[in-house]
Amino acid sequence: MSLRSRISAPEDEGVLEDGRLVAGYRAKLLEEIDLAEMSALSASERRTRLERVLGHLISREGPVLSTSERSRLIRRVVDEALGLGILEPLLEDASITEIMVNGPDAIFVERAGRVERLPLRFASHDQLMQTIERIVSTVNRRVDESNPMVDARLPSGERVNVIIPPLALTGATLTIRRFPRVYTLPELIGLGSLDEQMLLLLAAFVRARLNIIVAGGTGTGKTTLLNALSGIVPAHERIITIEDSAELQLQQAHVIRLESRPPNVEGKGRITIRDLVRNSLRMRPDRIIVGEVRGGETLDMLQAMSTGHDGSLATVHANSAEDALMRLQTLGSMSEVRIPFEALRDQINSAVDVVVQLGRQADGSRKITEIALLTSRGHDPFRITTVTRFETAPLTADRVVRGAYRHLPLPRSAAEKLHLAGEVLPAAYGVAPDDALDRHTREARG
Ligand SMILES: Nc1ncnc2c1ncn2[C@@H]1O[C@H](COP(=O)(O)OP(=O)(O)O)[C@@H](O)[C@H]1O
Ligand SMILES: [Mg+2]
Repeated sequence: MSLRSRISAPEDEGVLEDGRLVAGYRAKLLEEIDLAEMSALSASERRTRLERVLGHLISREGPVLSTSERSRLIRRVVDEALGLGILEPLLEDASITEIMVNGPDAIFVERAGRVERLPLRFASHDQLMQTIERIVSTVNRRVDESNPMVDARLPSGERVNVIIPPLALTGATLTIRRFPRVYTLPELIGLGSLDEQMLLLLAAFVRARLNIIVAGGTGTGKTTLLNALSGIVPAHERIITIEDSAELQLQQAHVIRLESRPPNVEGKGRITIRDLVRNSLRMRPDRIIVGEVRGGETLDMLQAMSTGHDGSLATVHANSAEDALMRLQTLGSMSEVRIPFEALRDQINSAVDVVVQLGRQADGSRKITEIALLTSRGHDPFRITTVTRFETAPLTADRVVRGAYRHLPLPRSAAEKLHLAGEVLPAAYGVAPDDALDRHTREARG
């Protein structure tokens, strides 16, 4: 081992410390390759091609390098040439769900629900800013002191948020939300997020056109479950999906995907979820699926749900079933249509049939923590009946969250709806004698 490599720390970058070497090869590489031809290749083919060309260039005119230095140099130059520099390999890594850059020296990723810091850094603030500029320029946006907060999209479609100084005191900050991978309901059972009986129940709800709200905190798996549930919608139906950032990946043939649009640089041309919900009503939908309700569009969605567009699905950010209903009420009141709070409760009572609550457990796993039915009518307080609940067992030394699902009788009114639609109740679920308050039912006054 040479003296030089012995005195270097493990993350010491050796020849790569000289940014000019990387930049020089990047420029040479871009001269050699045919960009037009490259665009037809897949990401991994592109990488292989660049690595090969660069290998030739280095052998021909480069300094003498050790094998590991040489491969690190190649990797670094190709990463930079491909666009997002040191972030490229992270984007290729399917186990990473979130990439967070907090200034040039601090890069974190989330894997399986856990956040870890990586031994990586940008060469400088400027290099990070260049990467950021490259990202935001693809959506025709600028980022600078007068425009320090930008939402953008990677060419692959992933959502990116950028916020820079002076607003971000810790340095230019980049948050990349990876596309969630698609899970089927049986796969989610495999992950312990629900059980077979719940699958049968939820599938019956979807086919019987109950309106379903999927609720949970950020990253609890709302979009993933919404996508899986959407898979049950029969293929002959016309489905319209409405999202801020198209994440849903439905498999049916007759799906129309609508996506909202932020304003352009001049602050014009904004199309909101609300505009899209309203427009969708004129498109003869059989089902409307709203990725996440966050504002006044909630009222439009509730109206749609209770006036013939039943069988709709949406997600909302909430920590419990009652919280979800309260949130819908608050969000509905953000509409510019002034509607009394009581009337909103009426709206929710007639629109919402089911709340599926998700939770992220201490071990990072995601589970349905409750399936609740709403049986209240008119202006009455919300009456919520639990039909499934996850009961956590005491935590053991391995810190894996274990427990069991408890299946409880359905309120008679809901069971009748299923029966009328020709659905059979799964074996684990009975029917409660009436819809009266019992110990699995609670009231909430929004
Ligand atoms: N049931 C699950 N088990 C394990 N991982 C999940 C589950 N549901 C979602 N995930 C993963 O968790 C992350 C967040 O999921 P997502 O559906 O986008 O959450 P949300 O919409 O609530 O923010 C994604 O990486 C996704 O693949
Ligand atoms: Mg989501």
